[in-house]
Amino acid sequence: MIDARTVILSPMQERDLDEVLALEQASFTEPWTRKMFLGELQGNTFAVNVVARVGEAGYGTGLAVGTLLGYVMFWVVFEELHLMNLAVCPEARRRGLGADLARHALSVGSEHGVRTALLEVRASNLAAIALYEGLGFAKKCLRKGYYDHPREDAMIMTFLIEKGGATMLNEDPAILELARRESSEFKTLEDTHHRLEVQLGELNKRHFLTAEEEQQKKRIQFDKLATRDKMAAIVRALKQNRTLATGPSA
Ligand SMILES: CC(C)(COP(=O)(O)OP(=O)(O)OC[C@H]1O[C@@H](n2cnc3c(N)ncnc32)[C@H](O)[C@@H]1OP(=O)(O)O)[C@@H](O)C(=O)NCCC(=O)NCCS
Repeated sequence: MIDARTVILSPMQERDLDEVLALEQASFTEPWTRKMFLGELQGNTFAVNVVARVGEAGYGTGLAVGTLLGYVMFWVVFEELHLMNLAVCPEARRRGLGADLARHALSVGSEHGVRTALLEVRASNLAAIALYEGLGFAKKCLRKGYYDHPREDAMIMTFLIEKGGATMLNEDPAILELARRESSEFKTLEDTHHRLEVQLGELNKRHFLTAEEEQQKKRIQFDKLATRDKMAAIVRALKQNRTLATGPSA
């Protein structure tokens, strides 16, 4: 939970970029360039870019009020959230801010009707993977040789959000594991959902779609929602069975 006295969140502006670029370069082996950041700030209507700075009560790190602590950047594309970038300055790490920024992204997404969050992370970035797993993201698959400098696979992770914003995975990750184990239909639906997600991701990367491709995209979005609804129904039924089996809690 972000306390506004210690951390101030605000939309990233061009005037933030010198500090943001310094943190980006300190955080990644293949950092985004100024041009890439400007592209997100100026030319991308789906993008939400947020910086975190030390609030008036300080952040307990000796960093001056107003110092950049970190940033999170994400796209809200219809019912999907793509987490694009997340970094926390080295002096402020392991105090919960990275998780809070990712949670902030999910909460903004949820307000905008997002149903699925998706991200790519270097397979060797165990800190970030642990952070995302802690929030309820699940590992989906590896995208081979996705990154350069050094060449490395990307781990694709997803997070499902229930209708109305209640998070399915956050509530009880164990129930999803149970669903995978006990329902072959759930597993098939999950695979289908992932396949549709990848197809949609490919279409979303394109700057121009033909009318036919636009239609295809709508069909994929519709199928994805339907698939997700079926998955949610299976999870609901499992939860209900579990409650019936264990009886009401005291
Ligand atoms: C990844 C990063 C954003 C984490 O930020 P942070 O503020 O330190 O993260 P948090 O304090 O919220 O950590 C939340 C959880 O993530 C995991 N985690 C974070 N850093 C970790 C580390 N160095 N090693 C192992 N687990 C780690 C832990 O499970 C942690 O919970 P815990 O502290 O209760 O054990 C930060 O290390 C960073 O900026 N790294 C470089 C950029 C980067 O890799 N970004 C992610 C790109 S996908």
